Amino acid sequence: MGFVDLHSHVLPGLDDGVKALDESMELTSILAKMGFDTVCATPHQKVGQFLPTRTAIDAAYAQVQAALIARQSTLQLLLGAENFWDELFLERWPKSEQPTYTGAKAFLVEINVQVAPPRIEDTMFQIRLKGLLPTLAHPERYSSFWDRNFARYEALSRTCAMVIDLGALDGAHGKPQCTHARRLVEEGLAHAAATDVHSVADARAAGAGIAWIRKRCGDAAVQRLLDENPRRILNGELPD
Ligand SMILES: [Fe+2]
Repeated sequence: MGFVDLHSHVLPGLDDGVKALDESMELTSILAKMGFDTVCATPHQKVGQFLPTRTAIDAAYAQVQAALIARQSTLQLLLGAENFWDELFLERWPKSEQPTYTGAKAFLVEINVQVAPPRIEDTMFQIRLKGLLPTLAHPERYSSFWDRNFARYEALSRTCAMVIDLGALDGAHGKPQCTHARRLVEEGLAHAAATDVHSVADARAAGAGIAWIRKRCGDAAVQRLLDENPRRILNGELPD
């Protein structure tokens, strides 16, 4: 089967992702050529910065979906969100009201890059007990888990799915982010890898990230991180 992208900003005009429909079309076409047959659009849900309404998100999704059908694209476009761990998320998750992936128990969440939420490991466990699957976006960015705190990644990977950014593997987001993304893949702690594309330019770095996984870890790792495990995550399962 093709690849599944669990993290992208391909819906126009909602956040810091693509600006217009023609850019959405160009980017989804590039992702299809890279081997993706399923792309999850994950617009930001972040108080004070990017908080598009449900109505706006649904309208943008319908617009892109209609344009894909008009172009006879076979790409499957799913809808999720990139929830920021803020007061809105803390209000939503106990009521299971945070936006999840289409029809799924899994949802994407990001945290502050410098300061991890207090007792995040415990909260992730509480979320799991509700039958939900927290999926942590770009874990390689969070300095609270770097270097001597690396064991925190191991603890988190037992309760939430870890989805690294492909571009980070190619150094697109900085050196320590690259080092930790690579280490998460090499040590088997990354469950999946995603593009996190915001623009056409981001697709190049994502392609380089796929090439790095293939060269360093082989074809089986590419299939596991981009096909098999993302499909499990969309089924609400935490991959081994
Ligand atoms: Fe993102």
